[in-house]
This record gives sequence, structure tokens and C-alpha cells, in this order.
Amino acid sequence: MRAFWKEHWGGDFVVVHGTIYKPEELQGFIALDMVEWVGLVTYTFAGGECEIVSLDSLQAGQGIGSRLIDSVAGEARKAGCQRVFLITTNDNLEALGFYQKRGFELVEVDRGAVDRSRKIKPGIPLIGMHGIPLRDEIELEMALELPAQ
Ligand SMILES: CC(C)(COP(=O)(O)OP(=O)(O)OC[C@H]1O[C@@H](n2cnc3c(N)ncnc32)[C@H](O)[C@@H]1OP(=O)(O)O)[C@@H](O)C(=O)NCCC(=O)NCCS
Repeated sequence: MRAFWKEHWGGDFVVVHGTIYKPEELQGFIALDMVEWVGLVTYTFAGGECEIVSLDSLQAGQGIGSRLIDSVAGEARKAGCQRVFLITTNDNLEALGFYQKRGFELVEVDRGAVDRSRKIKPGIPLIGMHGIPLRDEIELEMALELPAQ
């Protein structure tokens, strides 16, 4: 996981909403093509909520990202969480579309949050996807229906 994050997230830790997450602190699901890793989702539980920390699919448009999200939502329901939430960044237009199509709703924008994270992780680029300045965090959430008692 450390090597996967180094390749895809520019280091062996991620900084979200000012929190440093290390692979060994998280749970996750791996999508495999035979023995090759083609997807990874990591998540954590805190305060009765489930946070998705990272999601990567290396084979776009084959349902890997959707299935990884479903797997986390299933675990969150089992754990009795009322919501799954995640942070993405203002430049990640694909992720904003992807999550909203899968039932996530926008919660809030934390202006300048990525600029603050960059002080902890200087490798975070100044310019993100599509040439968009990378500076804000956007929280999305999916409310979960709890199983009937
Ligand atoms: C965002 C991301 C996780 C999506 O992963 P993915 O595996 O491509 O996701 P899916 O295949 O489930 O869905 C992508 C599209 O393919 C379509 N699709 C899914 N299965 C399909 C199939 N069998 N045939 C054709 N299309 C299919 C989906 O309908 C979806 O389109 P839509 O969003 O317009 O509905 C991926 O692009 C990624 O890793 N991005 C980089 C990292 C990142 O930004 N992570 C999120 C921020 S935390």
C-alpha cells in the first residue's frame, strides 16, 4: 500500500483536513486483476462516521471505482455509520461528477485547505488537474440508511 500511495499520491502518507493518514492506520479494499493491483480504496471509522481517505482505479470505466465505494458503504452500514464522507479537491472535476452520480452530496468547501496541507506535505502540486490551481477541499457525503431493527 505504501508503494501504491507513493506512486499515485506522491508519498506514503496523505494529508486531508489537516490530518495525516498513514496506510497502516486504515482499512481498505484492493481490486485485483489476477495478482495485479488495479484499484484501492482506504477508509477509517471515527465518531460513528466512515471517511474514505483515498480511492484509485487504474482501469477507468470498468466499474472498479463504483464497486470499491459499494464495498466501503457495506462495511459502514455493518458498523452502524450514518454516513460515508470524503474530501476531494477543487481541481478534481471527474471525482466531483463520479461521487455525485453515486449518491454523494456536496457538504462544504474549505477554502485554502490544500494550501495548508502543502505546508505539511510540500510535494502537493500548486497546479492540479486541468491546469486548475489546487487550493480547496470539498467535502461530500452519502447518508446511509440503517438496517431495520
Ligand atoms: C474517480 C475514479 C476512482 C473512478 O474510477 P473508475 O473505476 O473509472 O469508476 P467506474 O468505472 O466505476 O465508473 C466510471 C465510469 O465508467 C462507467 N462504467 C462503469 N462500468 C462500466 C462498464 N462495465 N462499461 C462501461 N462503462 C462503465 C460508469 O458508468 C462511470 O461513468 P459515470 O461516472 O459517467 O456514471 C478514477 O477515475 C480514479 O482513480 N481517479 C484518480 C484518483 C481520484 O481522483 N480519486 C478520487 C479522489 S479521492
